[in-house]
Amino acid sequence: MLTRQFWRLDARPDDHDYAAALALVEEPVRDPAPGEVLVEARYLSMDPGVRVWMTAREDGYSPPIPLGTPMQGQFLGRVLQSAHTGFAAGDLVRGFGHWATHSTVDPALSGLAKMDEDVADIRDHFGVLGLNGWTALCGLTDVLGIRAGETVLVSAAAGATGSIACQIARNMGCRVIGIAGSDDKCAWLTSTLGIDTAINYKTQDVAAELAKVEGGINAYFENVGGTLLDAALPNMAMHGRIGICGLIEGYTSETGAPGPARFDQVLMKRLTIRGIFLPDFMAEGRDYYPPLRAMYDAGRLVGEFDETQGIEHVLHAFTRLMTGRNTGKVIVKL
Ligand SMILES: NC(=O)c1ccc[n+]([C@@H]2O[C@H](COP(=O)([O-])OP(=O)(O)OC[C@H]3O[C@@H](n4cnc5c(N)ncnc54)[C@H](OP(=O)(O)O)[C@@H]3O)[C@@H](O)[C@H]2O)c1
Repeated sequence: MLTRQFWRLDARPDDHDYAAALALVEEPVRDPAPGEVLVEARYLSMDPGVRVWMTAREDGYSPPIPLGTPMQGQFLGRVLQSAHTGFAAGDLVRGFGHWATHSTVDPALSGLAKMDEDVADIRDHFGVLGLNGWTALCGLTDVLGIRAGETVLVSAAAGATGSIACQIARNMGCRVIGIAGSDDKCAWLTSTLGIDTAINYKTQDVAAELAKVEGGINAYFENVGGTLLDAALPNMAMHGRIGICGLIEGYTSETGAPGPARFDQVLMKRLTIRGIFLPDFMAEGRDYYPPLRAMYDAGRLVGEFDETQGIEHVLHAFTRLMTGRNTGKVIVKL
C-alpha cells in the first residue's frame, strides 16, 4: 500500500517554535475520487503567508488551518494517478495541497495547472515563473502602475517576491531601491540583479537613506510593514503609491501588524495605499505567465533558490524563510 508523509498542525505556534506545533505523520495515500488527481510532490514551496493561517486569526484572507489537519502549501510535482480528463499520469503540475510527499486534490479547488517542461530548471515554476513572479508583476503593473523613469522601493528585496519585483522594475526602466537584512543580500541586489541602491535595514538608518532620494519614492512595493513602512511614508513623492503585498513583520502575531505611526503622510503627500492580492486578478482571468516567460527567456529575470532536502527538514526550511536567512525562493526538494 502506498503511504504518504505529511506535516500536521497540532497547535498554534509560539513565535518560530514550529517543532512544538507540527508533527510529521504517515498515512495511506487516498486514491483519487472521480474528478480528482493524485500528485507526487518533487518540490514544496515555503510561503510566509501560511504563517498567518497557523494562527487563530479569523480576519485574514484565508481561514485558520484547523488543528489536527495537514499543513497547507504549494507543491510542484508529477501526476501519479488521474481521475480527471484534464490531467494524465506524468504531467508536471503545480497547485495547492499539503506539506506532504503526496496530495490528492480537486484541480479546481487546488488551482492545479500543467507546467511547461521546456524551462531550463523546473524549480523556476516556483520562482520567477511561479506565483511570486505573478504577484510581483501584478503588484507593479496592475496595482502600482509603475512607469519608466519612476523611483520604485522594494522591501524584503532579496527574498523570492522582492527580488523578482526588483528585476521587473529595473527591466521597465525604473530606478530601483531595495531594502534587505544583510550586506551580502545588498551586494547581490546591486551586483547580480543590477538595481541602483540597496539599504541594509539592520545596520543603516533606512529613513535617513530614503530622505536622500531625489524627488522621493513614486511607488513602494511593501513586503514587510511596521518599521519599514514608517521609514518610507515621509519619503514618498507627492501622489506616491504604496502596494501592500505582505506585512511579514506582523505574521507571528495573533492580532496582526500594528498600523503605521506616520499615517498622516497619506494626507500630507496625497498617497494611495492598496493591497496586492493575486487571486483577485486571477479571478478576472489575468495571465502573468507570458510576460514573465519573455523576460525569463531573454535572461532578464533570474531566480535564486534556498533549497533544503527532505520532507523531514520542512520546518528547518520554513524557519529559514521566516527568520530572513534566505536569499531568493525557499523550497524543499523531496
Ligand atoms: N499578496 C500576495 O498575493 C502575496 C503573494 C506572495 C507573497 N506575498 C508576501 O510577500 C512577502 C515576501 O514573501 P516571499 O515568499 O517572497 O518571502 P521572502 O521574501 O523570500 O522571505 C521573507 C523575507 O522577509 C524579510 N523580512 C523582513 N523583515 C522581516 C521580519 N520582521 N521577519 C521575518 N522576515 C523579514 C527577510 O529578509 P531580510 O529581513 O533579510 O530582508 C526574509 O528573507 C511576504 O510578506 C508574503 O506574505 C504576498
